[in-house]
Amino acid sequence: MHTITPPEYSAPAKFFHWLTVILLVIQYSIGWLMPDIGRNTQPLGLISWHLSIGALIVLLVMIRLLWRWIHGPTAQAQIVSPRLHRVAQGTHLLLYFLLLAFPLMGWANASSRGWPVSLFGVLPLPTLSSKGSRLGHTLGDMHQLLVWVLIAVIALHVAAALYHHLILKDDTLRRTLPGR
Ligand code: HEM
Ligand code: HEM
Repeated sequence: MHTITPPEYSAPAKFFHWLTVILLVIQYSIGWLMPDIGRNTQPLGLISWHLSIGALIVLLVMIRLLWRWIHGPTAQAQIVSPRLHRVAQGTHLLLYFLLLAFPLMGWANASSRGWPVSLFGVLPLPTLSSKGSRLGHTLGDMHQLLVWVLIAVIALHVAAALYHHLILKDDTLRRTLPGR
């Protein structure tokens, strides 16, 4: 086992990471609290918040990836072994993929129901499927399934962060926190 000196986790990287976490907690809560959706349901109240916050998450992740592409990835803090390093990178890649694919499926489902998606009623956003589309319907079913896949990957990710913090007692988690 060998370690490297922990490089700085930049302020924007911290900001993007923790804002995504906060928005996901809100979005999951709304997803489970909002009324069951049927053929005649209107996208009002909590459902309307779900669409807007979901669209905000998509935009945030796109800006985050653009920022990461321009500035390069923040180097990993502690390399435990080359194989675990690859597992961590693979998990991060999967998280980014799910953070885009998963809400886009919900969005396509909203479009297939004829629901307009906008950012809080201020910025109208394009439709991702035509009204009544079968694909949009199927993607909605997948959106409901992937809810659990994303939770499972996040659980693995959080377990890894806690393993670093509590067992390896290194700086991996601490350096991503504000004020460090
Ligand atoms: C990362 C962001 C998102 C999370 C964490 C999330 C989470 C959830 C959850 C937990 C449910 C309830 C599933 C169930 O009751 O089994 C749900 C349903 C739904 N979501 Fe999302 N969602 C996200 C993004 C979006 C976006 C961007 C849209 C549309 C613009 C959207 C549209 C929907 C719709 C239409 C349903 C109801 C599906 C149905 O009952 O057929 N979601 N979502
Ligand atoms: C809830 C949803 C979460 C998502 C979607 C998420 C996503 C990500 C992603 C994509 C990265 C890679 C950043 C990059 O290098 O580009 C990352 C890094 C990291 N996350 Fe999370 N994360 C979440 C929650 C958490 C939580 C709750 C913790 C702490 C308990 C945590 C701890 C960390 C740490 C320590 C790193 C840095 C890893 C390193 O330096 O190698 N994350 N996260």
